[in-house]
This record gives sequence, C-alpha cells and structure tokens, in this order.
Amino acid sequence: MARLDIKIFGDPILRMRAREVTTFDGGLHALAGDMLDTLRAANGVGLAANQVGVLKRLFVWEHAGRDGVFVNPEVVETSTETEIADEGCLSFPGLFYPSERPLRARLRGVDVYGEPHEEVGEGLFARILLHELDHLNGILFIDHLARHDRKEAMRRIRRGELEQPHEPASAPEL
Ligand code: CO
Repeated sequence: MARLDIKIFGDPILRMRAREVTTFDGGLHALAGDMLDTLRAANGVGLAANQVGVLKRLFVWEHAGRDGVFVNPEVVETSTETEIADEGCLSFPGLFYPSERPLRARLRGVDVYGEPHEEVGEGLFARILLHELDHLNGILFIDHLARHDRKEAMRRIRRGELEQPHEPASAPEL
C-alpha cells in the first residue's frame, strides 16, 4: 500500500470528467487500497480518484467507523430537504465554507469486484457521497458556495493560501 499525492485546486484533472471503470482487476484493487491509505493519512472523510490524478469513476470514504470503495456511482435519489454545514476538500487545504446539500442521498454503483453496491446517506454521509460523486464529474465544492463565500475563497486562493501551512481542519475534508 502506498500514499498518493493529492492534487490541489488548479490542477486541470480536478475539472475533468472521470471515465467509467470497466476492468475490475488487481490494478483497481491496489488503487482503491492506496486511496484508502491516502485518505486516512490525510484525516479526510472522502477521496475521489481525480484527486490522486486518476480519471476513473471511483471514490473512497470513511464515516462513523465504516469505510468503503464506490465504483461507477450514480445518484438514485436525493431529498428535497437540505442541510447547510461547513465543508472542506482535501484539494483545498485550509478552506472551509458552509454549503447546502440534500439531507439524504441514495447512490448506486458497484464495488471493486464489479458487484452491485448501494449506499444511503444522511447528514454528513450524504454530503460525503455527493461531494465525491461531484469530483468524478469535475465539479468542486466551491461551485456550491454562496456567491460571497465563493468570491472570498477565490481571493484567498489567488493569494496562494492553499500552498501555505494551515491550521488543523475545522470541518470535514472530503
Ligand atoms: Co473534495
């Protein structure tokens, strides 16, 4: 197992759409294992393949003592009820802003063996599932922020804050 480099905002791969996984071989299992190692080392709660420079549709997550790998995930349904909570992203170190997401989400896909897999999330877990699926479509958490927060975030990024040492995470990093 190995820790992978996490791509920081500005890397074009974070804006690209990842491709469907069609081969469920040892290479995929190793990638998933390395992504879980990388997620734990970074104390994050979710990590998508784009974030480690791989354009494949999979992400890993860790929540409430469980973890997992989701391959080719799709949204089945989301609640109309939403929740606003502070959110961060491992590709935006040190930046945390409130973002509005559906309170509940159901995603369907497959596991690393290609077997059907489904997860139902509420609250933070729903947020993790939707944030990671966004990554696979090149969508980033700053896209969900209120206008004034997004402006401030972009200003801080232009000042080079993502490259500066920062305080320990004040909200979940996904
Ligand atoms: Co993220």
